[in-house]
Amino acid sequence: MIKILMVCLGNICRSPLAEGILKSKVEGKNVMVDSAGTGGWHIGESPDGRSVQIAEINHIDISGQTCRKFSIADFDNFDKIYVMDSSNYRDVMAYARDIEDEQKVEMILNKSHPGSNKDVPDPYYGGENGFKQVFEMLDEACEVIAKEI
Ligand code: 4NP
Repeated sequence: MIKILMVCLGNICRSPLAEGILKSKVEGKNVMVDSAGTGGWHIGESPDGRSVQIAEINHIDISGQTCRKFSIADFDNFDKIYVMDSSNYRDVMAYARDIEDEQKVEMILNKSHPGSNKDVPDPYYGGENGFKQVFEMLDEACEVIAKEI
């Protein structure tokens, strides 16, 4: 089984969407997908209502997810860790214990835009349109990830 972790800052906007989108694309395959945040402000909460809504419009239900914080054990429990932006990348890499851990970490938009190191912008303080853009970016990247599995 391939185990993939999606990571953002709060684990309520971007990474829950990435988790839901990838799950929808690998249905029936032997893949486990989860998400976590580098920050702990929203532990135990459901995803942001705006993420739930944009997912629902696209026939994906992420309402049952629960926010959790990233931990060092995630390096042992997952084969691949996709981060949403360069800040998440720095935070997760700071936890890495060795090269093997470091090699698991990748900026998710490098799947759809190789070598670009583009960020998935944090939509938390923006409007609805930000969530639509985030959905589209993640859908494109997850399509590539799913095809490679
Ligand atoms: P996310 O967005 O990293 O996409 O889940 C955020 C959600 C909440 C906060 C920051 C980013 N916050 O500071 O509470």
